[in-house]
Amino acid sequence: MNTIIEAKNLSKTYGKKATAFQALKDINLKIYKGESVAIVGKSGSGKSTLMHLLALLDTPTKGKVIIGGEDSSTMSNRKLNKLRGNTFGFVFQQFFMNPNDSVLENILLPLKISKIKRSKRKNKAMEALKIVDLASKAKNKATDLSGGQKQRVCIARAIVNNPEIIFADEPTGNLDSSTGDKITDLLFELNRKKGVTLVIVTHDEDLAKLCGRIIRISDGKIISDSKVRKSTMKEAEKRHEKVAATVKARNERSKK
Ligand SMILES: Nc1ncnc2c1ncn2[C@@H]1O[C@H](COP(=O)(O)OP(=O)(O)OP(=O)(O)O)[C@@H](O)[C@H]1O
Ligand SMILES: [Mg+2]
Repeated sequence: MNTIIEAKNLSKTYGKKATAFQALKDINLKIYKGESVAIVGKSGSGKSTLMHLLALLDTPTKGKVIIGGEDSSTMSNRKLNKLRGNTFGFVFQQFFMNPNDSVLENILLPLKISKIKRSKRKNKAMEALKIVDLASKAKNKATDLSGGQKQRVCIARAIVNNPEIIFADEPTGNLDSSTGDKITDLLFELNRKKGVTLVIVTHDEDLAKLCGRIIRISDGKIISDSKVRKSTMKEAEKRHEKVAATVKARNERSKK
């Protein structure tokens, strides 16, 4: 299997001297292309910190993140921006949108950054908005959306560039179960049909069990890293099929 991301002896300390806090302690892991990985653990255990380091949005105090065989600490800014813009998709609640721009403009931004031709941008952006069921809100100001709708805009923005890896921090955290199911369905469809690698931080054990692998973190350390057994994986597939069917049935009902 191809390694897509590798963490080597990764540590992160926030603050200095008396207020220093070691949020991650010597993390080693490999993520393979096409995997779906759940990162679970108590609040404050270091999940978001780990995700930010893997996604090259923050730098470690010690250790390395290796992407496609290359040490990220030696990459040029241009290369880093390209990875963040084209290869990665982020679904983070705190990475929010430009509130005064329209929903559509928010989705267009990553396409502009990655220099997609102007004539193609709008179609691509509208397609992504359709997937998250928000085409009708394209012209609304991003601030005027509900929390769940904002979350869905973030997902549209994450998928618009056809990323190879999606990093999602509590993607269903603030959503009602029907919207959450929709997002879950979408993420796993991308994983199963397009081979998009998923790295998902979640408190939701059901969501974690849909993944092929579960990494548990406690006090900044990995305490377990286990593949979901094949039989369990089959169950997960069945669960995903159920989620997909529920979403489809709901969509059809709402069309009537
Ligand atoms: N910028 C920062 N400065 C100082 N400490 C921080 C900073 N960011 C996070 N921490 C601390 O590092 C630890 C890990 O934080 P992190 O955000 O990774 O936790 P988490 O597992 O994502 O928690 P949650 O489930 O609540 O989101 C926490 O104790 C937190 O207080
Ligand atoms: Mg967090």
